[in-house]
Amino acid sequence: MTTLPKPRQPELKTSLPGPKTAAIMARDAQHLSTSYMRPYPFVPDHGEGVWLTDVDGNTMLDFFAGIAVSTTGHAHPHVVRAVQEQVTRFTHVCLTDYPQEITTSLAERMVRHVEKPGEKWRVFFGNSGAEAVEAAVKLARNHTGRSHIISTIGSFHGRTYGAITLTGSKTKYKRGFGPLLPNVSHVPYPNPFRPPLGATAGTCGQAVIDHIEGLFQTIIPADEVAAIIIEPMQGEGGYIVPPADFLPKLRALCDRHGIMLIFDEVQAGMGRSGKMYSFQHFDGQNGMNCQPDIITVAKGIASGMPISAMLAKESVMTWPVGSHGSTYGGNPVAAAAAHATLDLLEGVVKHSGCGESLMENAAQVGEFIMAELKAMQVEFPFIGDVRGAGMFIGLEFVKPDGRPDGKLRDAASMAMFERGLLNLDCGEAVIRISPPLILTREEAATGLEIMRDALRALK
Ligand SMILES: Cc1ncc(COP(=O)(O)O)c(C=O)c1O
Repeated sequence: MTTLPKPRQPELKTSLPGPKTAAIMARDAQHLSTSYMRPYPFVPDHGEGVWLTDVDGNTMLDFFAGIAVSTTGHAHPHVVRAVQEQVTRFTHVCLTDYPQEITTSLAERMVRHVEKPGEKWRVFFGNSGAEAVEAAVKLARNHTGRSHIISTIGSFHGRTYGAITLTGSKTKYKRGFGPLLPNVSHVPYPNPFRPPLGATAGTCGQAVIDHIEGLFQTIIPADEVAAIIIEPMQGEGGYIVPPADFLPKLRALCDRHGIMLIFDEVQAGMGRSGKMYSFQHFDGQNGMNCQPDIITVAKGIASGMPISAMLAKESVMTWPVGSHGSTYGGNPVAAAAAHATLDLLEGVVKHSGCGESLMENAAQVGEFIMAELKAMQVEFPFIGDVRGAGMFIGLEFVKPDGRPDGKLRDAASMAMFERGLLNLDCGEAVIRISPPLILTREEAATGLEIMRDALRALK
């Protein structure tokens, strides 16, 4: 077993934006797509561990990991070596037509985390989360011969046509792009902090199940529903953890009606929640099962190299030869990065200061961050809710009357950024904390101190 050196901690410097940053941002504004958002003046030059340095030499602590992607931090030596080694061998031979050992072994490795006795799984590889979602929905329709898909309000599933149709978080993702996919409906997500359907935190899971059963009686014939797709922990919608009984009850509902259950683990999966897949926090608890039929993963799978996967039970992956594929999907360089990432997540390779594995580190340091943030609620009553699992943590800002305070959230996010903390919003009034999983307790404490300082400035 290899033990890798601990990255040094650069000093925080924050004079933003510097002249080089400003110049590149001006060129960027001239030539890049008008759809790109530029909320923060930051142009990265290089990274090391949980730190990113911009082109002017400002070093920032990364608390968002490129939207939950950079699992192993920046330029992790183990990942860099794996990529370099694969590039010198071959960079592309289309996986749709030819097998490659590196992707075969990656699939074998990934299914080990979901397979249960007597139940085999298979993997389709793509390049992005949206592509994995498209594959999941195509497979569910093809396998069941049904067309209707149910998704959730607040969800995010990507930017392709199928994925934006399924998405239910913001209308800006859909405006002007119609017509979208037919036969897609949205139901509420059981958010214990803002329970839908007149329910309480404790009853909202059952209320959503009853709501879906109600739709099956009145609007959507259940025997025409191919799949229910849901994030086991909702990401873009606000970093929301559903009540413990919900996913097992959803599994049971799908079983009653022959519906495929798709878990979109693109954001919360790959160790971020402290378990490989976030649904595993609920599966097998109190004798209840919520094993899905199909899982989508991307983001954290390969430390930033583009690869995604759609995993399905063998009994479900019945689409015929040639019915689906991808030129680049399962690219061997990205697959090498995924192996290296899994080495660290599983603890086959240790990262100094991060315990037995990055997954364990995510659980332990995440718990520390969450406890500290909960303690901060006493000083800052405008933090209405702190929630999450592992290093998937949401901080919701509220007005004195309890309604979401998006403006205050935006001000807090910018104040943190100006003090050297890269962070990102989500939902209506939430800051998501999704750092690289190599974050140590000391580095977490540095980030929390920056947050405290920024929040004090707001008061
Ligand atoms: C849950 C979820 N699914 C799918 C996607 C789409 O992934 P990508 O941007 O790689 O297409 C995202 C991206 O944020 C996501 O959070």
